[in-house]
Amino acid sequence: MKIFLDSANLAELREAVSWGAIDGVTTNPSLVAKEGKEFFPLLKEICETVDGPVSMETVSRDAEGMVAEGVEFSKLHPNIIVKCPLTKEGLKATRQLSQRKIRVNVTLCFSASQALLAAKAGAFFVSPFVGRLDDISQDGMALIADIKTIYTNYGFTTQILVASVRHPLHVVAAARLGADIATMPFSVLEALVKHPLTDSGLERFLKDWEKLPASAKSTKPPASLAARPAASRRP
Ligand code: G3P
Repeated sequence: MKIFLDSANLAELREAVSWGAIDGVTTNPSLVAKEGKEFFPLLKEICETVDGPVSMETVSRDAEGMVAEGVEFSKLHPNIIVKCPLTKEGLKATRQLSQRKIRVNVTLCFSASQALLAAKAGAFFVSPFVGRLDDISQDGMALIADIKTIYTNYGFTTQILVASVRHPLHVVAAARLGADIATMPFSVLEALVKHPLTDSGLERFLKDWEKLPASAKSTKPPASLAARPAASRRP
């Protein structure tokens, strides 16, 4: 499963890239507004920071406006994916953009019937929002299972991008169900790394290491062991 960062914050993106952890980025108008920067230059910098798909969301309410925005977005960088909402106008725009070979991420998906229509309109990604469903006592991950079944039944190539991810168990459940991608805020990515037994285990190893006399604990090899020719090394 691919991991995307759901963020428009360059510092977070750079940090995640340095871990080798992310395959792409999703943004939305709320995340972009939080940065308080100019939209196009920010998105361009994001594309230059992360080598993978970058979703950039349209803000028109009608198909004509979404298509016009999407065409401009797609010229910014080859990795741009145009985000359109799962409305009738968004589906029209998805169809037209995908006919022009512009990849679309259909967002704000909350039902299997919506996901079926997104695929039929030619969506490249569909973004079901699992956390926002959980928030209203509906089972977000059950929606992912339904979409997976439907897409598999009919061979739709639209990729399932699990969004509104709130915690590591959402990520694990998405991977178990065979989702293509999970996008998450930086806080969830950090939580994926952490385990208390890793931290306490490392503490114990390093404390034990301190017990060695200083003369014995150089981590650089002594001259007698360094730089032996390859042929004399044991396999
Ligand atoms: O990018 C869309 C989505 O991931 C939003 O998440 O936490 O605002 O529901 P959230």
